[in-house]
Amino acid sequence: MTELTDITGPATPAEHPVAFPQDRTCPYHPPTGYQPLRDGRALSRATLFDGREVWLVTAHATARALLADGRLSTDRNRPDFPMPTARFAAVRDRRVALLGVDDPVHQRQRRMMIPSFTLKRATALRPTIQRIVDGLLDAMIEQGPPAELVSAFALPVPSMVICGLLGVPYADHEFFEEQSRRLLRGPSAADTQQARERLEAYLGDLIDRKARQAEPGDGVLDDLVHEQLREGALDRAELLSLAVILLVAGHETTANMISLGTYTLLQHPDRLAELHADPALLPAAVDELMRMLSIAEGMLRVALEDIEIAGTTIRAGEGVLFATSVINRDASLYDDPDALDFHRPARHHVAFGFGIHQCLGQNLARAELEIALGTLLRRLPGLRLAAPAEEIPFKPGDTIQGMLELPVTW
Ligand code: HEM
Repeated sequence: MTELTDITGPATPAEHPVAFPQDRTCPYHPPTGYQPLRDGRALSRATLFDGREVWLVTAHATARALLADGRLSTDRNRPDFPMPTARFAAVRDRRVALLGVDDPVHQRQRRMMIPSFTLKRATALRPTIQRIVDGLLDAMIEQGPPAELVSAFALPVPSMVICGLLGVPYADHEFFEEQSRRLLRGPSAADTQQARERLEAYLGDLIDRKARQAEPGDGVLDDLVHEQLREGALDRAELLSLAVILLVAGHETTANMISLGTYTLLQHPDRLAELHADPALLPAAVDELMRMLSIAEGMLRVALEDIEIAGTTIRAGEGVLFATSVINRDASLYDDPDALDFHRPARHHVAFGFGIHQCLGQNLARAELEIALGTLLRRLPGLRLAAPAEEIPFKPGDTIQGMLELPVTW
């Protein structure tokens, strides 16, 4: 495991742009190639896959200031918007609700969605989440050991939860999970484009069926169809773009946190023992894992005006990316930032973003993670990896970070 935990690497001279994004060497540490970015600087230059140079934000205070700055746009239809991968560039002409729009459109969409994603709503969903988690663990225990935790648990938990919340039939999960996977990590740009089209066709059909129902179902999409669409507050295309982001963001991210969170805990036996001894540490543990794992690397923005910050001028039209894993290990804020420590104040991390686009689903994600990880550890106290840690495959750096597979036994 030594090579996995060694996070030092060849030092690129600070003045040379680093390539972004890069693959991790260890699934829970930033890529070794980002090491030169960790010397306390606020901003660096980075080169994207197409050769474009952008700003890369690496300090926590600067990240929060910029993420809250209305002079940065998240409108990916703009011609100067930075594209981190060819896959991303392939769908740049599609409408992306919330995450792809600036105010005032963003504010209107966000206000429409907030009631469905409050802390109160997430708390009310806890018994449902617990039932889902217990049901999946019952099945896994009956069949195992061993088990492949991604397909048996990490992916179905958030997938079932978001289906119930949105009003999407879980029976279709293989289809939409596959399209989401291709959208976020397909082999080619054409494949990504086709996956996006298939998801849109599927959800468009679902929306039309809901619109024809006399009695609305009780999902968020049913509410949007029967209230906002009928009243003219939303058109079909906008509703469809909301449905796509809610379904994709609602299951892929949390699934990765469950798989990578479990792997990380199993690699830190002392921390695992601490959680077994004191389950009340769980909420703090979830936030500390969010900070440490920083699975959503590379939030994307473009400057609309010149911005003076941290002794630098970001020029209008320049791309600004946020190196989440580096920001969340800013040594000026976190002591011993590479250590997993459930007793530090970790909640200021930017793993859910910050500012107006801060994760809409964070209350739901926290509830799911607490219940999924807490119940997994409680019911399977002898849980361990069923293969050598360094042989277990994890996701490449150009997508949401997580485990591709997680063989476990107990
Ligand atoms: C642990 C799991 C999750 C992580 C790490 C995560 C991460 C993030 C991050 C970093 C952002 C901000 C991106 C940016 O500013 O560029 C974001 C936004 C968003 N997330 Fe999450 N997310 C998670 C779970 C969820 C869930 C369960 C949902 C449920 C639908 C969700 C829906 C969204 C939406 C709709 C936005 C856009 C919000 C806006 O633009 O106003 N996320 N998420």
